[in-house]
Amino acid sequence: MSEIALEAHNLYKVFGRNPQQAVKRLKAGETRTDVLDAGTAAVIDASFTVRRGEIFVIMGLSGSGKSTIIRMLNGLLTPTDGEVLVQGRSVTEASAAELRDIRRKSVAMVFQHFALLPHRTVIDNAAYALEIQGVPAAERLKRAREILGKVGLDQWADSYPDELSGGMRQRVGLARALTAGSDILLMDEAFSALDPLIRREMQEQLIELQQELGRTIIFITHDLNEAMFLGDRIAVMRDGRIVQQGTPEEILTDPANDYVAQFVQDVDRTRVLTASAVMEPPHATTPISAGVRGALRTLREQQSSAVFAVESRKLIGVVTDRAVIRAVKAGNTDVRGIVDTNVLTVGPDDLLTDIVERAVETPVPLAVVDDKRRLIGVIPRVTLLAALGNVPATTREMPIIQTPIDMVAEFTPLVDQVADAAPAAAGSAREGGDR
Ligand SMILES: Nc1ncnc2c1ncn2[C@@H]1O[C@H](COP(=O)(O)OP(=O)(O)OP(=O)(O)O)[C@@H](O)[C@H]1O
Ligand SMILES: [Mg+2]
Repeated sequence: MSEIALEAHNLYKVFGRNPQQAVKRLKAGETRTDVLDAGTAAVIDASFTVRRGEIFVIMGLSGSGKSTIIRMLNGLLTPTDGEVLVQGRSVTEASAAELRDIRRKSVAMVFQHFALLPHRTVIDNAAYALEIQGVPAAERLKRAREILGKVGLDQWADSYPDELSGGMRQRVGLARALTAGSDILLMDEAFSALDPLIRREMQEQLIELQQELGRTIIFITHDLNEAMFLGDRIAVMRDGRIVQQGTPEEILTDPANDYVAQFVQDVDRTRVLTASAVMEPPHATTPISAGVRGALRTLREQQSSAVFAVESRKLIGVVTDRAVIRAVKAGNTDVRGIVDTNVLTVGPDDLLTDIVERAVETPVPLAVVDDKRRLIGVIPRVTLLAALGNVPATTREMPIIQTPIDMVAEFTPLVDQVADAAPAAAGSAREGGDR
């Protein structure tokens, strides 16, 4: 099967007296306001491609044209201009019979309130879409039961909607939409009427189910946090036009214009950005083989109070300036003895929301390691704070977060000694300053 689920090519939808003329004028460069006399341009020159198995979010303020677009995707509305292809089939050119077929098998619309039928049991509600499609009872109940299991409601199959909590009812609604079995689900503000806790639960459930069932979902919302949380990719709409398309991270970190920038200003970045998006190359690292002297040199070069000790790129732990100085004084040359292996690490795909707490606990930058524990990046606390506060910041050095020891008085002579004498000679350094 093709990797592309749905394509929209230069879609226009104008409501009003003279839609064709309005489109012509829009194509010639007139604005939405210019063509108001001919009609309301709800959608202007919208093109996008939805890949199979992704959640594609269309986001925009009220009136920006989201519902109009989504209705053109399954032929509920005919575009004034442009074309929609579903799995390569033209929706725009389809006959009424073909359209029915497309809607049943390929693109189903999920309605906002998931309205359940009160006099039917949960399982009959879940199986409702299949019943309409004429699927035999045994088959449809089997499929409904399967999906109910996936949304965690199999024990409630024979209950009635009013015996369920609000959140559970929503899940039945979702189950019903999923049971219908169409490849592409269109969801227009499907969670907007829910209270925040249930909404969150549904968002998580949707992602889980989507991963499990591999459906393609086109999800409309005016809630940016929801868009960022759900979307593999997002199209941002303004006044009928798609003003930017991209992954949540792309939209957050590189907004196409001031409008998008302003829009994303308030988004909860911790739920979107991952460690790999904010990490920096690790500079303050020292190979175990370089010994205490190597560690000391790196500390000085990086103007840092701690360095990461690595071996074949794998993270072994942290070496602090204090430990190095103690080792030098004691005449130890092996770093292994002074590495603190109890170092906090994060994975490249960890969300900042899961990282922030750990960052607060650790005085050194967070180490980002891959699944083989190779050190692939570091996140200094300032970088994290900058990312959260949306302040552009690139630090090159690891910031000194620990209270620095008296670097000038104590450290510099030590480095010089170590550099040109046997390590044991360092024992002559003055005492004091090492708290
Ligand atoms: N049937 C219609 N007749 C005339 N104008 C319409 C019609 N449907 C939508 N519009 C207009 O088209 C524009 C886009 O409407 P649409 O419903 O697509 O916006 P939306 O982004 O879904 O908004 P909301 O977030 O409020 O649902 C609006 O200006 C609306 O008034
Ligand atoms: Mg709408």
